[in-house]
Amino acid sequence: MCGIVGYAGRNAAAPVLIESLKKLEYRGYDSAGITVLGSGIETYKAVGKIINLESEIPKKLGGTVGIGHTRWATHGRPNTENAHPHNSGVNPEKISIVHNGIIENYMALKERLIGEGYQFKSETDTEVIAHLLHKHIYGKPDGKEAQCELLVGLREALKEIEGSYALGIISADEQGKLLLARKDSPLVIGLGKGENFAASDVTAFLNHTRDVIFVDDFETAVLSPSGVEIFDREGNLKEKKIEKIEWDFEAAEKAGYEHFMLKEIHEQVTAIHDTLAGKVSELEGAIYLNELNLSEDEIRKLSRVQILACGTSWHAGLLGKYLFEQLAGIHCDIDICSEYRYRNPVMNEGTLAIAITQSGETADTLAAVREIMSYNCPTLAITNVVGSTITREANSVLYTRAGPEIGVAATKTFSTQITLIYLLAVKFALVRGKLSHDYVKSFITEIRKVPGEIQQILNQKEAIKECAENFAHAKSYFFLGRHLNYPIALEGALKLKEISYVHAEGFAAGELKHGPIALLDEGTPVVAIATRGQTYEKMLSNIKEVKARDAVVIAVADSKDTEIGKYADIVLRVPQSDELLAPLLSIVVLQLLSYYTALARNCSIDKPRNLAKSVTVE
Ligand code: F6R
Repeated sequence: MCGIVGYAGRNAAAPVLIESLKKLEYRGYDSAGITVLGSGIETYKAVGKIINLESEIPKKLGGTVGIGHTRWATHGRPNTENAHPHNSGVNPEKISIVHNGIIENYMALKERLIGEGYQFKSETDTEVIAHLLHKHIYGKPDGKEAQCELLVGLREALKEIEGSYALGIISADEQGKLLLARKDSPLVIGLGKGENFAASDVTAFLNHTRDVIFVDDFETAVLSPSGVEIFDREGNLKEKKIEKIEWDFEAAEKAGYEHFMLKEIHEQVTAIHDTLAGKVSELEGAIYLNELNLSEDEIRKLSRVQILACGTSWHAGLLGKYLFEQLAGIHCDIDICSEYRYRNPVMNEGTLAIAITQSGETADTLAAVREIMSYNCPTLAITNVVGSTITREANSVLYTRAGPEIGVAATKTFSTQITLIYLLAVKFALVRGKLSHDYVKSFITEIRKVPGEIQQILNQKEAIKECAENFAHAKSYFFLGRHLNYPIALEGALKLKEISYVHAEGFAAGELKHGPIALLDEGTPVVAIATRGQTYEKMLSNIKEVKARDAVVIAVADSKDTEIGKYADIVLRVPQSDELLAPLLSIVVLQLLSYYTALARNCSIDKPRNLAKSVTVE
């Protein structure tokens, strides 16, 4: 998740862009940059916070039109070359662009453009758009004469791009203009007097105007100091509604949600979509994990996977154990990192270590990884933070594309971690001949439906809220699950403990009768994850055991399950889905249940007591 900004007005653009970028810093903060249209394209970039960029910019920089970007790295490390804006054109540069989103076919486009003589300075997917656009306008890398208008060239270039984008574009040959384009990434225009603004979200320009136009998918726009024109996909001028923003800055930063956690729960729709982007092909039944430094032969020879993680990431890893063994037939062990180092682990030939850590900085995880690497074991890191310590130590890195997670309780980083684990397990199964291409095709069809299915759950969150409010003052909560739902039960309990301070325990449902059932008494809420699958009938038996002790059963069940209502007191529904993928849906219900419980108990949701977002001490 990055932030883009743009300005077309009569004042100096640079200070306005810097002010706007500071407001968007929460969207990404590993590097930043601006371009203003002075006598030509003038670009400044810096690694780190916006103040670093600010100190690079000359005090009296002219130019009243410009674009800016604050980056949360997805393709390429955080350094000045990879920072936006990205430019195209040779002596002088002609075009400058900023981008938020992911271009899925960038490798194919990049190879083609290199073949045509374009030279790339960065590792980003975005630079491809700059050169592609240049090619459509100037014909060749050193072309000097524009053969068409910027807007016409943009429309042609967009036809070749697959993926998501919010783009801000300026051209040395079209002074006084700022162009925008959008597909699947947020983009909003702010209307001022003699000046107009653009940004990924309204917080960027709320100090200047509250009159806005939201840009929709496939629209392009041209901003000048005196006006805004918006066009549809075919290039027809569109009438758009002007809306008034009533939020204060703090509410706007959270996109109108009361807490970052709730915003981040909602962002799972795009986060999972982005994590899948460019990694799956339904047509070919293929999964591309190009960042994995393991050949197919090495994947076939693996005898064991060792997962290392802490907390929520450990729950993602536990799901991984089930998947690697069940789908790919690879023996899989999982350890809590703080334990791993002190138990003198036995190392087998052919072990792949997978470290899961959203922050990439957890001290226990880093220590466990160093321990396992001392046995010359290849290591794969799954993390959300480009450039974090783990990415510099592991042999391969797969990134979740969840964007910055501000709420201390992990939500969207968990669901994107498990998205990557599904891809890894299915890929390994395919390479090892355990699954067919046809199966993989249908798996890809199903996993691509998940973001939409999560949206359906979010649309019905009132039912979950009501349930949370009814039990907000319970002394204890229990979470039960079997098979793939067992890690989800553990994660549901952890979420509730962390943010609402209610005592909660997660159990493998079959274990209940071996002890924990003694804790149940009248009215204890027991959340039973009972989506359809191989353990459904057994789960019903466990629900009956619980009911017999007068506890209250809150079942998480499929939308089409007509049986569950006979046994459970309350049923929270998820869309009917593939059994394998149901955990990605059930977890959203449990996150919302925790969130609304904490809200009803008036807890500090985004910053729970005693907890830190990244635990950098052992
Ligand atoms: C729970 C939570 C923690 C982390 C744990 C590991 O919501 O966020 O349990 O999962 O501290 O952190 P990472 O994934 O950064 O290694």
